[in-house]
Amino acid sequence: MFPDLTRDDVFRLETKRLWLRWPRASDSAAVTAFASLPEVAQMTANIPHPYPAKEADRFIFRARAENAEGKALHLAITRKSAVRPVFGLVSAIANGESEVEIGYALAPEMWGKGYATEAVRMMIDTVFALTPVLRILANSRVNNPASRRVLEKAGFAFLDTGLDWLGARGGMHPCDRFRLERADWRHSAKLRPLPPMAHQRRDEADAILAAPVADRTGELHDY
Ligand SMILES: CC(C)(COP(=O)(O)OP(=O)(O)OC[C@H]1O[C@@H](n2cnc3c(N)ncnc32)[C@H](O)[C@@H]1OP(=O)(O)O)[C@@H](O)C(=O)NCCC(=O)NCCS
Repeated sequence: MFPDLTRDDVFRLETKRLWLRWPRASDSAAVTAFASLPEVAQMTANIPHPYPAKEADRFIFRARAENAEGKALHLAITRKSAVRPVFGLVSAIANGESEVEIGYALAPEMWGKGYATEAVRMMIDTVFALTPVLRILANSRVNNPASRRVLEKAGFAFLDTGLDWLGARGGMHPCDRFRLERADWRHSAKLRPLPPMAHQRRDEADAILAAPVADRTGELHDY
């Protein structure tokens, strides 16, 4: 699903205020500091609570393996300022051939500053630019208005509400389901630049985005 470009741990994305990069073993303590908090874990499908010892190590190992296999793109979020401990995670996980599911979590002291929206928007642009998927899916617990708002700001459309399996929460829970179609993203992304390094992959998705444009005489140009 994900191309060679994202399957090497030098891959990183830059936003106005953030770096998104592969998680590293040395991020374990920083990840534990926020993933172990109940207010973070309880809103997610996969973060256990209480947070077992070495869980962050296992997550980082698994995340790097899935990144390398091209099954997913799990990225750690840091600020671009001088001191850069990881304060969040954003993941895009392949769901069959045509869909990707995204998830994210941030340390509470960083909430309310627009960081999740900034990271999610970059992940969306990257997924659509570098993979041929048709849509991105996300869901959020019905008691999680902040997550719902992140998805709305990032352009997702609300689909419906239903019971979804949240493994780490031990059962089915009511969740709001959201979807972003490639066609809708293309419409809204026209004025945004491609993610850095996206030009290195000339695949079907890039071809759509970078299709030659005819001038008045009919001659084609790659703008
Ligand atoms: C969800 C989460 C990632 C949001 O991170 P964040 O960096 O605060 O998000 P942003 O600042 O980009 O946007 C949050 C939006 O939610 C709004 N919001 C926050 N709390 C809210 C509430 N109780 N009711 C309504 N809106 C709320 C904010 O005002 C903001 O919207 P605005 O920009 O229109 O004002 C963060 O709260 C988190 O990590 N939660 C725990 C894990 C989690 O829920 N993950 C998602 C699983 S689906």
